[in-house]
Formats: sequence, C-alpha cells, structure tokens
Amino acid sequence: MEDMGRRQTASRRHCDGASDHIVSVTVDLETLRRKADAVVHADLDDCLVRLNAEFGEIAGKTLLITGGAGFLGYYLVQSALHWNGSVSSADQIDVTVIDNYSRGVPGWLAALGGDRRLRLIEHDITQPLAADCQAFDYVIHAASIASPTFYRQHPIETMDANVNGLRILLELARQRQHTERPVRGFLFFSSSEIYGDAEPSAIPTAETYPGRVSSTGPRACYDESKRFGETLCVNFANRYGIPVTIARPFNNYGPGLKITDRRIIPDLAQDLLNGRNLTLHSDGSPRRTFCYSADAIVGYYKVLTRGRSGEAYNIGQSGPEVSMKELAERLASAAREVLGYNGSIVTKESTDSAYLTDNPQRRCPDVSKARRELGFDAVVSLDEGLLRTLTWYAGNREGAYA
Ligand SMILES: NC(=O)c1ccc[n+]([C@@H]2O[C@H](COP(=O)([O-])OP(=O)(O)OC[C@H]3O[C@@H](n4cnc5c(N)ncnc54)[C@H](O)[C@@H]3O)[C@@H](O)[C@H]2O)c1
Repeated sequence: MEDMGRRQTASRRHCDGASDHIVSVTVDLETLRRKADAVVHADLDDCLVRLNAEFGEIAGKTLLITGGAGFLGYYLVQSALHWNGSVSSADQIDVTVIDNYSRGVPGWLAALGGDRRLRLIEHDITQPLAADCQAFDYVIHAASIASPTFYRQHPIETMDANVNGLRILLELARQRQHTERPVRGFLFFSSSEIYGDAEPSAIPTAETYPGRVSSTGPRACYDESKRFGETLCVNFANRYGIPVTIARPFNNYGPGLKITDRRIIPDLAQDLLNGRNLTLHSDGSPRRTFCYSADAIVGYYKVLTRGRSGEAYNIGQSGPEVSMKELAERLASAAREVLGYNGSIVTKESTDSAYLTDNPQRRCPDVSKARRELGFDAVVSLDEGLLRTLTWYAGNREGAYA
C-alpha cells in the first residue's frame, strides 16, 4: 500500500482567465529531500575545490558578511564553513553575519547557529555597529533589498543599505587603515542593474559601459544607490588606499533563493510546486542570461581576494541569453524530470502596475575581465542549474518559504 505521508499527488483545476487546465505534480517528499541535500553538498564540494587558493588566503582570518541571511548568503556563508570543515583549527575562518532579518531568520541559518566559527548578529546595517564587532580582516557588504518587487515597496530602506550602510563599513575600514590590522579585502555587492536598459550595441555589456538608467523611475532607488555605492567604493579606494572591490552580479538563481522572493525563477517554481501552469507577467520577450549561485559565489570570493582595488567586475554567465518564455519552457522541462510536471505556459498582466517599468529588455554580461584578471568562468549550464534549483525547491518546500 502506498505511504500517503511520504507521497503526495496534487491534481488541481486551475483557471488562468483564458482557459482551464488540469496540472498534476507527483511528489515523493523523502526522496526529494535527499536529492535536495545532495545538490547542496555537491555545490559546496565544488566551491571548495574551485576556491582552495582564495579560502587559503582568508584562512585563520575574520570575515564579515552583511546580508548573510539572504539568497547569496546561503552559499557565501556555507562555503566558508565548509572550508572550515576541511582544515585544521588554525586555518578556519571566523564568520560573522550581520542581518536585520527583514524577511525572518531562514531555517538553514538557524540550523547553523551552533557552529563555533559562526556569529549571528541581528542588526540594521544603516546604524552604527557595536564596539565589539567593528574589526574584520575581510568584509562582504551584501545587505540590501534585492528583489524588484520589494525594493519598490521599500525604496528608502534600499537606498540606505547601499549608501549609508556601505559608508559606515567603509569608514570603519578607513579608521583601521594605518593600524596593525588593516582590512585586507572589502567587497561591495553592486548589480548589473547599474547598466539599466543597455543599447543593443552594448550587449554583451562590459564594465566600461556607463549605463542608461532613470534617476527617478520606480527602479531608481536600487539602480542609483548601487551606482552611488560604487562611486563611494572607488573614492575610498583611491583616497585612502582601502582594498575595495565591486561585484556586479547578473541574474543569479539557485538554492537559498526564497520561493516567495518574487524574482522570475522562484515565481515559476512556485507555480510548478503548486501544480499550476507557469505564469509570465510579460509577453515573454525580455532576454537574460542566468548564473547559478554556486558558480557565482566562486566569482565573488575571487573578486574579494584577487580583484584590483577600486575596480568593478561583472559576475555572471555569458550565455545562453534566453527570453523569459524560453526560460519557462526550460524550467517546465526540468520539472517534468524532477516532478513529472505536465503544465503549460500562460501570460497574465501583473497586479503590480510598475512591474515592467524600466525593466531592461536585454541583459547579458561581457565576462572577459573576470576571466582575464581573476581566472573566473561560470561553468554550470542553464539546464543543469535549473534542474539543481528545482530539485532544491522541491526538497525544501517549507524551508524555501522562510
Ligand atoms: N541575486 C542576484 O541575482 C543579485 C543581482 C544583483 C545584485 N545583487 C546584490 O547582491 C546582494 C545580495 O543579494 P541577495 O540576492 O542575496 O538578496 P536577498 O534579498 O536575498 O538578501 C539580502 C539580505 O540583506 C538583508 N538586509 C537588507 N537590508 C538590510 C539592512 N539594512 N541591514 C541588515 N541587513 C539587511 C536582508 O534581510 C537579506 O537577508 C545585494 O546587495 C543585491 O543587491 C544580487
């Protein structure tokens, strides 16, 4: 007899306004959980191999990760702790996470709470840091609202984290510049959004492209605060000699990205897991390249430890550049393999009237600078990354909502 506790089959009638669809998703929860854990273990092992030299540099040092409870924090934090598990005590990295937990404490981070090399601090980075958490050898400033839906809802908080929060951290680094323990590396998370809606002739987009961005539109709180953040970094590097580097991520996705985050891949994953057809809120024509998070994390640690001070680096996948419709098709095909999914793709206008305002039509990085200067290349193909991501969502249905 079938174990109904372990096996759930969702078969629902779904109305998308135009037609009714029956979508069935068959889920064997225990198997899916095991497979999701295997994806994370394999990703962490892979990071360790690819970042052996970089973690070797951070070995025995202290590392601050602001925004470490977020999506990219998932692998930024866990890969450093994974390194710790492979070396002697003297070479372990002391990791401090500062986060205001604006969207709650994720289960994966709470589960790491007992790790003696991990310190978790609930704090808003736009406020001064307590005296006992000001001195770090390496700093990664990743705290910012990153999802367009949420930064449009909280524009002031978004600007504050990228400008005032960054300024606080840069000032602390400046104060330590001529002490016995200066900051050795400081990474600011900017964004590919600083390029705005690049002209077709500027695609793929190199770091030298100045950008085409609205300073007053609904996305400006994010784009312009990242741009000003970069300006702060460059000038603190030039004027005070602080080793500040900048990463410009291009559409990352993968384990750790909350399914409720309202970015395109988690939105589609939610449809899949709830047995609905895949809903696109555009005509499906905007094009992007997508970079799997475990791949991108390798790039970020390389920018931190190998990047030239005052320089920005595109971190992303150079191809394939796919339309949103093609992305949905590829995800549906991965879901057929993981879940036996048999839904289709529908379009529906978003209830958010600013959803598509200033949304770049194409986004694709020129990654030659990171390749040349850092030896970084993204290696996980889109189909493989989508398969791993979906496997992770399927096995972390509760955790993914944290
Ligand atoms: N994921 C991507 O594809 C992508 C693309 C471009 C840029 N980035 C940048 O990378 C960084 C990390 O992105 P992510 O995808 O992990 O975002 P995320 O939203 O998943 O995580 C950000 C974290 O920062 C925290 N945070 C926000 N404001 C804070 C504050 N004032 N004080 C303390 N903590 C605060 C949030 O609670 C959250 O845990 C962000 O700076 C983002 O702008 C990410």
